[in-house]
Amino acid sequence: MTEIERIDRAAAYIRDIMGDSDIGVVLGSGLGDYAEAMTDAKVVPYDEIPGFPHATVAGHAGELWAGELHGKRVLMMRGRFHSYEGHPLNDVVLPIRVMARLGIKTLILTNAAGAVNTSFAPGDLMLISDFINFSGKNPLTGPNIDELGPRFPDMSRAYDKRLRAIAWETAEKQGIALREGVYAWFNGPTYESPAEVRMARVLGADAVGMSTVPETIAAVHAGMQVLGVSCLTNMAAGILESPLSHLEVTETAERVRGTFRALLDGVIAAL
Ligand code: HPA
Repeated sequence: MTEIERIDRAAAYIRDIMGDSDIGVVLGSGLGDYAEAMTDAKVVPYDEIPGFPHATVAGHAGELWAGELHGKRVLMMRGRFHSYEGHPLNDVVLPIRVMARLGIKTLILTNAAGAVNTSFAPGDLMLISDFINFSGKNPLTGPNIDELGPRFPDMSRAYDKRLRAIAWETAEKQGIALREGVYAWFNGPTYESPAEVRMARVLGADAVGMSTVPETIAAVHAGMQVLGVSCLTNMAAGILESPLSHLEVTETAERVRGTFRALLDGVIAAL
């Protein structure tokens, strides 16, 4: 089976149960519950979708939710696939490509990330303006899938200007403090070393994380407009005296959850 056949087989399975959608959302750490805001939602576990990988991270449920929200057809991923779990990048981006085949033109990617910019603080929300790929890998490696997009896709406007303007307006309306900056992808699962964080800062990064960039690349390749929002759950390694812990990440994500949800919800309403 070719990759496009694999993508279309999963898309056909999902379409049969859930129909097509307009907006795709990847719910990062702590945001999974937001799927329950949709009305008439249909839920499909990833395990039941032909060709889908198995989710392995605790706290990521591994379900696709489709429903209606603010009059739009929305498809939400509750749990995503990470490269550090051992998934090849074509598996990491499979759901994004399936979304493209289901007619989704607008993709909202959310994540938890470490703050590299020392004027940012844990609990801040950051709109992603651009990315740096420090992983040495690219999900488009291999034969190009011409049905999805071109061999050499332009990444000069990976995060859509119009969507970012909507996010800013929404934040202002709701009194949500928002940051904007560059997200740098490290493969993980180790948190970055302090020297890597200093390097990332010198090279223009404002935040570091272990997801979102492969999904962005695949989405832009497939012609989707992408909005990326990070919840900065911690100062990146070496900035503070205290060591990093996954607990700190989940606790901050939990603390900011309500605000993050409100921002997302406002953006979806305004689309
Ligand atoms: N680094 C990488 N990924 C992360 C971090 C971090 O500091 N915090 C949350 N996800």
